[in-house]
Amino acid sequence: MSQLTAGEQLRKHLDTFLASDVLGKSFPPYQPTFTFSAEYIDEFHMVLGASAKEPGLVNPKHIFGILIKGSLRRADALKLYEIGYFVNGDILELGSYHGLSTCILSQSNHNSALEKRIYSLDLNAENCRKTMESLHAAKLGRCVESICSEAAAAVERFATNGQRFQFVFIDHSHTNRFAKFVECYQQLSVPAGSASSTISMIGEMKIQTSLTTAFTVR
Ligand SMILES: C[S@@+](CC[C@H](N)C(=O)[O-])C[C@H]1O[C@@H](n2cnc3c(N)ncnc32)[C@H](O)[C@@H]1O
Repeated sequence: MSQLTAGEQLRKHLDTFLASDVLGKSFPPYQPTFTFSAEYIDEFHMVLGASAKEPGLVNPKHIFGILIKGSLRRADALKLYEIGYFVNGDILELGSYHGLSTCILSQSNHNSALEKRIYSLDLNAENCRKTMESLHAAKLGRCVESICSEAAAAVERFATNGQRFQFVFIDHSHTNRFAKFVECYQQLSVPAGSASSTISMIGEMKIQTSLTTAFTVR
């Protein structure tokens, strides 16, 4: 599987961007952002795809062989894996709950030649514990740091420390206040001109195929 090369174009699917009044009500099917030759990136991506029909929820037991509380739509899960697989830099996840999305991101990291660190945070200490429990049960704990922190405070700390991420997965806030985060999160993304840096917004609609690339910083 070829990896993303510097300057490669991301497919943004601008025609699928949703207006705010249909976010959370309309669920476009999965469409790749990166270029790969087959329908799926690899076998795990195929397992994710087979785990649900659009726009259904993927089945953690089917995917990882363990129960993980949480709900991710098929398109969201496929997109998370795809971005986690192809980005060439650290990943920040805001809102891990019991670690379903974290396990998918970590699996993408384990399966990709581009090793990165995943910083996964949640406000709730019990959720952080559950996230680590899910990761260890799925043997996916390597290169993941679970941080118990409020998201905005953590983002400020990362910005102050000059830490950069290529992918920010925002799933802690389901309100439309995310606009205020965009600016802040852009400080965290890699400088323009690098291969890719993607900011994913989640809001009420979870990770939409279209929205994933709507906030790409080039
Ligand atoms: C929708 S759940 C995340 C689901 C998870 N990504 C998954 O795949 O199952 C949102 C999580 O964000 C956390 N959260 C809510 N507000 C937060 C905040 N301000 N800072 C950090 N975490 C927050 C909640 O504790 C909750 O676990």
